[in-house]
Order: sequence, then C-alpha cells, then structure tokens
Amino acid sequence: MSVLTFGLVVYSYFEINAQPKPEPQFFCGTESPIDNIHGENANGENLFKNNCAACHNTSDETLIGPGLKNISERRTFQWIVKWIHNPQKVLESDDKYANELFQKFNQAQMPAYPNITEKDIKDILAYINP
Ligand code: HEC
Repeated sequence: MSVLTFGLVVYSYFEINAQPKPEPQFFCGTESPIDNIHGENANGENLFKNNCAACHNTSDETLIGPGLKNISERRTFQWIVKWIHNPQKVLESDDKYANELFQKFNQAQMPAYPNITEKDIKDILAYINP
C-alpha cells in the first residue's frame, strides 16, 4: 500500500468518524462592566507600551527597572503618582524606599513623566494588574 493510499484511508476514516463540532459560544452583553475595564486597559496598554515597556515588564521580571507586577500592593497610589511625575524629586526627598531601589538598580535614572495624568496612571495600573 503506497503512502498516498494509506493517507487517504486514514483521512476517510477520520472524515467518517468526525463528530459535528459544537458551536463556540460567545457572550456579547454590551452592558457588561467588563467593557469599561477593557477601555481603560487599552489606554493603559498604549501608555505602558509607549512610555514604560522599554524598562519595565508587567511581570515580576527585571528589565532595566523592576518588574511592576503587584506594584499597587508595594506602593500607595499617591506614591506611584509622585514617582512617575518626578522620580528625582522623590529621591531627593530622602524617601528610603526610593533610594534603596535606586541603589539596587545601579542608580539608573527613570525619566519624569509630568504630563501623565492620574487617570492615565490608574489605566496603566489596571493594565499591569488586570
Ligand atoms: C529608562 C528606563 C525607565 C523608563 C522608561 C521607566 N522607568 Fe520606571 N523605573 C526605572 C528604574 C531604573 C527604576 C528603579 C528605581 C531607580 O533606579 O530610579 C524604576 C522604578 C519604577 C517604579 C517603582 C517600582 C517598584 O518596584 O517599587 C515604578 C512604579 C515605575 N518605575 C513606573 C514606571 C512607569 C509607569 C513608567 C512609564 C510611564 C516608567 N516607570 C518608565 C526605569 C524606567
């Protein structure tokens, strides 16, 4: 029996035994609050990819800076806002946490993002920790 015939036999065997596949089911509720979260996540994802992803992972793996997984549990929202708006100022305020992190990361400077709003930062955090 040639390879081709064998292939045909196998093929027809599976064709005959093929069961009709169940239709995939989707839930398309437009009222779902998930849609909101999704929109914000999308904004956060854009901002993160354009401004932060060069130095940060959303996982706990270090890139240039620390992985940002669970950042909202490590720091308060206000700290994160102050830090993103002006890391230099936080370092100069003798913030112990920031200075230890700065040393740990070989004094690598994170740029300041004074124009990223609190709403944007919330979106970024929603994207990091969905
Ligand atoms: C050029 C690299 C670079 C970019 C770009 C960058 N960061 Fe950072 N970031 C760092 C480094 C390095 C640290 C560690 C502290 C230090 O060395 O100043 C840090 C620390 C942090 C921390 C504190 C992390 C922790 O574990 O406590 C947060 C939060 C953070 N960055 C958020 C952001 C966000 C959000 C963006 C984008 C808007 C961003 N960073 C962009 C380099 C960067």
